[in-house]
Amino acid sequence: MRTLITHIKQLHQVEQETENRTRVSGKDMAVVPFLEDAWLLIENGHIHSFGAMSSVPETQVSEHINASGRHVLPTWVDSHTHLVFAAPRDGEFVDRIKGASYEEIARKGGGILNSARRLADMDEQQLYEQSLQRLLRVMGQGTGAIEIKSGYGLSLEAEMKMLRVIRRLKEHVPIPVKASFLAAHAYPMEYRENKEAYIDLIINEMLPRVAGEGLADYMDVFCEQGFFGVPETERLLEAGWKHGLKPKIHANQLHYSGGVQVGVKHNALSVDHLECVGDDEINALKGRNTMPVLLPGAAFFLGIQYQPARRIIDAGLPVCLATDYNPGSCPSGNVPLLLSIACTQLKMTPEEAVNAVTINGAAALELEKEMGTIKVGKRGSVIITERMPSLAHIPYDFGNSPVFKVVYN
Ligand code: NIG
Ligand code: FE
Repeated sequence: MRTLITHIKQLHQVEQETENRTRVSGKDMAVVPFLEDAWLLIENGHIHSFGAMSSVPETQVSEHINASGRHVLPTWVDSHTHLVFAAPRDGEFVDRIKGASYEEIARKGGGILNSARRLADMDEQQLYEQSLQRLLRVMGQGTGAIEIKSGYGLSLEAEMKMLRVIRRLKEHVPIPVKASFLAAHAYPMEYRENKEAYIDLIINEMLPRVAGEGLADYMDVFCEQGFFGVPETERLLEAGWKHGLKPKIHANQLHYSGGVQVGVKHNALSVDHLECVGDDEINALKGRNTMPVLLPGAAFFLGIQYQPARRIIDAGLPVCLATDYNPGSCPSGNVPLLLSIACTQLKMTPEEAVNAVTINGAAALELEKEMGTIKVGKRGSVIITERMPSLAHIPYDFGNSPVFKVVYN
């Protein structure tokens, strides 16, 4: 199978074979390298070659796409989602509009526990089918790799059910899917007076099963006041490492919880959310591989403060963006909309935002060898945009889909 795309207005995020760009940080985030008036050849699922139209190859292909007036860029890498869930939570949405906070709703047994009750009642096949619909929808919006978390199970059986659903999704879609084990998302009601016992359950019973069956790639913890504190997070991350699960954690969403520091200390692949970030958190991240992942869709939907993206980038650090697609704090997995929020609210430039959800997204999922840039040998998964004047038009034209066609492999 050979797909040739010609007359591309601009081919974005190109990388030469001699380069080794695995992430972009600080000032470098302002640049998305591109080729004007370009072609791209995808062969047997991989990028075969690309160049300027003046050198377009004359070759037999199975599919030829004339992309005149259109931009081409790598598919999005959405490195943080909870898209396997049983039911929406629009009742809580209305409660929040009327003044209840996310934390109050959680304390009363709503929020994550609400989702866990609904998930426990749903059979695996139905959970799979509706999760697949969500996944196919975000793929249509340009997502070409995704991470999905458990964490609405909160019991051995239900966590396993979620992770099996994620594994089935992995087997049925043409994009990389990574699974994170997030039993430490909230304490089930029956453990509220005996939190230690729930942590023991995760470490002694759930982790060995989950890791033993190869159901997870990463270990996640919701490190937050009222959820899992720093000492609990440390225990959980150490246990995860013993089973070969690298940490990717929820940190500093609602408070300066110490989550960033504990994530860095335990060599987390990423620390995600980061609404509450100051100098201490920024200093902890400097010189480390842990990727700061910002989830402004959740801040938007909860109406809380946004992540200080400018401070993080201006400190020379990389920034990754992800959707956090989940029924509570961000019921949208729409990356173009995420880019609009990042540009208008976090004051990221369109180039910074695109870097954050392509190359840096790939780094946050250890997919840098196969995704994130247009490079010979990488996966041939690209977005062909609607006709538009510039890359900036993607976040500019908010609420409208910039996607004309997505090519997978
Ligand atoms: O990333 N903050 C913790 N977890 C999710 C929300 C989960 C939920 O409310 O269902 C998040 O925002
Ligand atoms: Fe999340």
